[in-house]
Amino acid sequence: MALESSCDETAAALVENGREVIAEVVASQADDFAAWGGVVPEIAARGHVAYLPTVVEQVLRQAGVDSAAVDAVAVAAWPGLVGSLLGAVSTAKVLARRWKVPLVAVDHIQAHLAAVHLNHSRVDYPLVGLVASGGHSHYYLMEAPGQGSLLGGTIDDAAGEAFDKAAAILELGYPGGPIIDRLAQIGDPKAFDLPRSLLKDDRLALSFSGLKTALLYRVKGPKGRDPLQLDQDGLADAAASFQAAVVACLVGKLQQAVQATGVTHVALGGGVACNSGLRKAVRQCAETHGWTVSLPEPRHCIDNAAMVGALAAPCLGRGEISDDTLAPLPTGAAGPRRLKIG
Ligand code: KG4
Ligand code: ZN
Repeated sequence: MALESSCDETAAALVENGREVIAEVVASQADDFAAWGGVVPEIAARGHVAYLPTVVEQVLRQAGVDSAAVDAVAVAAWPGLVGSLLGAVSTAKVLARRWKVPLVAVDHIQAHLAAVHLNHSRVDYPLVGLVASGGHSHYYLMEAPGQGSLLGGTIDDAAGEAFDKAAAILELGYPGGPIIDRLAQIGDPKAFDLPRSLLKDDRLALSFSGLKTALLYRVKGPKGRDPLQLDQDGLADAAASFQAAVVACLVGKLQQAVQATGVTHVALGGGVACNSGLRKAVRQCAETHGWTVSLPEPRHCIDNAAMVGALAAPCLGRGEISDDTLAPLPTGAAGPRRLKIG
């Protein structure tokens, strides 16, 4: 039984052997946050407390089993919003104790990459992994699920955050990524000349804040004066141009990561890995350069619990078992935090 509540999705899944999803439920609060233009941490945390017992119940019912069928409880315990994480971590501790099974705590970002195992296709290691989500945009050299090193990533905004902010500038709604993706399909990616920051830089670093500002100035005019009056075609052109710039940066740096490591197996994860432009560009690049690519299904790219189960299985196999002292870790901290008493 895997649980996830690091941001605004409350999710549970029953996963067998880290590969087969027996049942899964995701309760999203995204609609509640549309009015706010983003996640309000305290509201998200309260939602998790309300939804967690129900999503666990629903998963067991969907699978047609009772708790006796569960042989471990897994939870994404870091990083994330600490109030949000607390929901799934507390629930997982209670369930593991009540069901007398091991508790496995995993890293949410690494779980995004482990989602490729849910495809049933073969995944080769080592691989270069790109996690692009609302909170993270980083490249990793992975030796095994959950075991690897950070190669580089964003120095300011995450790619998903940039999509969400671009959608806010264009007044398209929240979350912005899927809306921009849809609009981009009918727009001209060359209509707006937008920067591809750090693309020619040797460092494996991404930056999206300049791109966001360039879009803002272009759309609203310098100092907010003289805004463009964009009709549906104009909005589609802006969306397509913005998406093309983000995709060029993500794929350009992926190529750089492959060149630097000599590793030609590539995996993607995180909400932005749903993006149709990114998926197409990565597949094209793979064909051109002879890489193999593992892409999770879109429902396993955005936050979900099946990915937690996918990573928990190899962790359990390696004996990485947690206990009641497990506490959630907010974004920015590394590794599990344990209570030290006396
Ligand atoms: O992985 P995720 O669900 O949550 C985090 O761990 O952050 O990612 C959410 C992010 C949001 O910023 C959302 O706008 C973006 O993923 N996203 C997309 C698409 N679908 C979701 N971005 C671009 N294109 C999409 N199709
Ligand atoms: Zn995530």
